[in-house]
Amino acid sequence: MKVGIDLINFQTSQYFLDLATLAQVRGTDADKYRTGLGQERMAVPPPDEDVVTLAASAALPLLEKTTSADIELLLFGTESGVDQSKAAAMFVHGLLGLSKRCRAVEIKEACYAATAGLQLALAWVQQHPTKKALVIGADIARYDLGSPGEPTQGCGAVAMLISTEPRLLALDPETGFHAENVMDFWRPNYRTEALVDGKYSTLVYLSTLVDSWRQYKALSGRGLGDLARSCFHLPFTRLAEKAFVRICREEKIPEPAQDELQRRVGTSLLYNRQTGNTYAASLYEGLTSLLDNDPEDLSGKRISLFSYGSGCMAEFFSGVVQSSYRAHLFTAHHQQMLANRTELTYRQYEDIFRYQFPDDGGDHVIAPYRTGAFRLQGVRKHIRYYERAT
Ligand code: HMG
Repeated sequence: MKVGIDLINFQTSQYFLDLATLAQVRGTDADKYRTGLGQERMAVPPPDEDVVTLAASAALPLLEKTTSADIELLLFGTESGVDQSKAAAMFVHGLLGLSKRCRAVEIKEACYAATAGLQLALAWVQQHPTKKALVIGADIARYDLGSPGEPTQGCGAVAMLISTEPRLLALDPETGFHAENVMDFWRPNYRTEALVDGKYSTLVYLSTLVDSWRQYKALSGRGLGDLARSCFHLPFTRLAEKAFVRICREEKIPEPAQDELQRRVGTSLLYNRQTGNTYAASLYEGLTSLLDNDPEDLSGKRISLFSYGSGCMAEFFSGVVQSSYRAHLFTAHHQQMLANRTELTYRQYEDIFRYQFPDDGGDHVIAPYRTGAFRLQGVRKHIRYYERAT
């Protein structure tokens, strides 16, 4: 019985800051962001957008192509949750009108959280082959203004329907994974911006990649030649290129020429370049970008996925693209969404960045900005109220 990703959809903010604008204000060479980090724009969430609205907007189109009563599991991976107690999944469950016979919870392990959800959901659909699981990764990546992490900020959500006999990607059972207690990136409860030991975090990313890859290789008997494309967690796209080269080095294969590197990894980077880091969503944003944009027909081809969450948890796994996959993608929606965003000036970006909800328990209505299908309408007596965007 095949299990895997039946449908996938990606959502990001309608607003972005061009990194050339940020470079100018910070007095940095724009090529450092464009070439050194591999980023062009960062998605900026307006005050009425949060991980709940991003996640519900990402999931809504999936429900139009499935029987929502079959969804009995909703796993929401995020590090930017809106409540210390109540799962963001519960708000999403309500907005989507899912069946009350549904387990809905939030999962946390930095950017790895959606992969934890995916792996749990795969085991669950094996036990319940007629049911479906909705797995969502959504995050808002924030670092201090002027910090080295600032140009890697972003936001977005990916929703995936997990089922037996999936229409997009049948996942292989062999996976390599690695847990280790490290302090490379973290966000104490009292902070809205992450703290990070940036250079160290990239070293841990690459070393856990090697360990996960070695395990995957030993368990599956597969080598790099068996993988048509490779998707990686994308804190910034340049790191994925380095990650692929790192595996080549591990395999004692000559470093790929630029065109081969782009063929194997490049198409998965297109969306992330335009949004910045989307933490829990980023690997699956990369997968969406690959399936939407790769010029070759990937039917029957095996692709690898590497998930990394600081703190840290890493996993290397793979899946086979299904023959009808192109008929079940939301490519036009993704391309239009990215093409129709509103560019912010630096001042507008900083104003949005500094905006803070009043925490006095009063009745606060939030002015409408451009969002996806859902928006945060207001906060009253410390309760968040969401609504359909008009
Ligand atoms: P930095 O100090 O700004 O950058 O920090 P740098 O000086 O190392 O430069 C970056 C690259 O740009 C270098 O390339 C430079 O040479 C190049 P490299 O040598 O590494 O190949 N460069 C230029 N290129 C062209 N023209 C120029 C130019 N100048 C320099 N003029 C850092 C970079 C990534 C550390 C910083 O952005 C940061 O702290 N980011 C946040 C942390 C991060 O993204 N870590 C990634 C791994 S951890 C992870 O993935 C988990 C995470 O997603 C969170 C989660 O799990 O939830 C973050």
